Amino acid sequence: LKQRLQKLISQAGIASRRKAEELIVRGHVRVNGKVVQELGAQADAHRDRVEVDGRRLVTQAPVYFLFHKPREVVSTLSDPEGRESLRSFTREIPERVYPVGRLDYHTSGVLLLTNDGELTAKLLHPRAHVAKVYVAKVKGMVTDEQIEILEAGVRLQGESRPTAKCSIQKLRFEPPNTWLQVTLYEGRNRQVHRMFESIGLRVQRLARTSFAGLAADGVLPGELRPLSVKEVAALQKLVASVPTSRSAGR
Ligand code: URA
Repeated sequence: LKQRLQKLISQAGIASRRKAEELIVRGHVRVNGKVVQELGAQADAHRDRVEVDGRRLVTQAPVYFLFHKPREVVSTLSDPEGRESLRSFTREIPERVYPVGRLDYHTSGVLLLTNDGELTAKLLHPRAHVAKVYVAKVKGMVTDEQIEILEAGVRLQGESRPTAKCSIQKLRFEPPNTWLQVTLYEGRNRQVHRMFESIGLRVQRLARTSFAGLAADGVLPGELRPLSVKEVAALQKLVASVPTSRSAGR
């Protein structure tokens, strides 16, 4: 079966499809020993020898896990500063999996891990509007008016486009802090922290309770579990209409 090179590379978990296209165009990819730089080129994962920077592609079956990231863990596979990384928790997974997006070092909660680069790219695509639910502990008493301002969208420092509409429920006021549930449909860097900061409030603790409809229920911090076939199918369905890199915006 011949498939486009970028698809083979993303399926092998090496890079998203978009990154794979860059690798091809920049001459990092060889098929049977010859550098191939055209994006339309195809190869057969089993019959052809496909290499990225001299390393042969191993086409792995796609695997999917829900991980409950503890606080004080970086959401990358290694950390130049030597802090604890995802690697400590993924050693038992034989496939090379990557996180679907990021969670801050101090933030705990649901983080999907997979070697399916294509699904990852779609889930993270701005047009996917994937729901992310957080529970935030905010210093002080947060008013209904402040909640309305945040829900409508605010300007984050250093960015011109305001945040998308989101939904916020006050869970409880436990002096001197307010606990809130925040549902976002986009994912900018440190978004929850920065949204509250933009109106002078401080998030003291943050946890993600659900990502793309998948909740941490029953999975303790530091634990992971494979997604069921049904859950994977639901994710695929959720992003079915999201454009892949080549068709995006064209
Ligand atoms: N918003 C944040 O501020 N931090 C995260 O880790 C995720 C969303």
